[in-house]
Amino acid sequence: MQTLSYRQRRSELQTYFDRTASETWARLTSDAPVSGIRRTVRAGRDRMRAQMLDWMPADLSGKRVLDAGCGTGALSFEAARRGAEVVAIDLAETLVSLAAERTNEMRAALPSDARYGSIQFHVGDMLDPALGRFDYAVAMDSMIHYKPADMVDMLGRLSANVERGIIFTFAPRTPALTLMHAVGRFFPRQDRAPAIEPVDAGELRRHIAAEPALSSFREQNSFRVDSGFYVSSAMELRKA
Ligand SMILES: C[S@@+](CC[C@H](N)C(=O)[O-])C[C@H]1O[C@@H](n2cnc3c(N)ncnc32)[C@H](O)[C@@H]1O
Repeated sequence: MQTLSYRQRRSELQTYFDRTASETWARLTSDAPVSGIRRTVRAGRDRMRAQMLDWMPADLSGKRVLDAGCGTGALSFEAARRGAEVVAIDLAETLVSLAAERTNEMRAALPSDARYGSIQFHVGDMLDPALGRFDYAVAMDSMIHYKPADMVDMLGRLSANVERGIIFTFAPRTPALTLMHAVGRFFPRQDRAPAIEPVDAGELRRHIAAEPALSSFREQNSFRVDSGFYVSSAMELRKA
């Protein structure tokens, strides 16, 4: 049973990403010009996505990858380019439609003999067990709004259907980030997101070590991006 705080936050995020910020998010994840602050976020996110993809094999042919909280589908597309069978899921129907449109266009622009697996899009909760089993689950910036205890619970639930690796980001707790979040300057007031929940990396590791569902997973990789207004850490948990 998922906690009340998880369900409440999920519902806020659905409203936020499906309605309030869908256009802001569509623009941030496109090539369209954006402000200086958002440029640093875009550059940091590009760097982070590349690193998360690089923790998986370069050839993902025949591998099932869950893009958990796929947003506008950039990571799904890159994983499919490596041959993966991607299941891309997000709470926000608007973003899933845009992701399907964008990935179709990008695929159409590829040379006809380019490697490309497949992408199946769904609107819903990334924890839905009906999505099936995966070699990898990747959650880029899609768990950062949940309380650390809920985030670790999410990792535990995902792990039940993951054979190899769970790759996810979290917002590291730093004095500067705490201040930035307090001031709330990621986005203008009218389209500000539900709060990000910064977590101390050591505390997160202790929670993970104490989560019985994750007992067969070990930390394999970690990485941090510090790009202006985008400060984010990624971790890979690998099945031992
Ligand atoms: C910050 S965006 C990141 C999107 C994408 N991963 C990227 O990096 O571009 C977070 C996304 O996670 C989705 N999300 C949050 N909680 C989710 C959940 N429980 N199940 C599915 N999607 C979720 C949101 O709807 C939102 O689109």
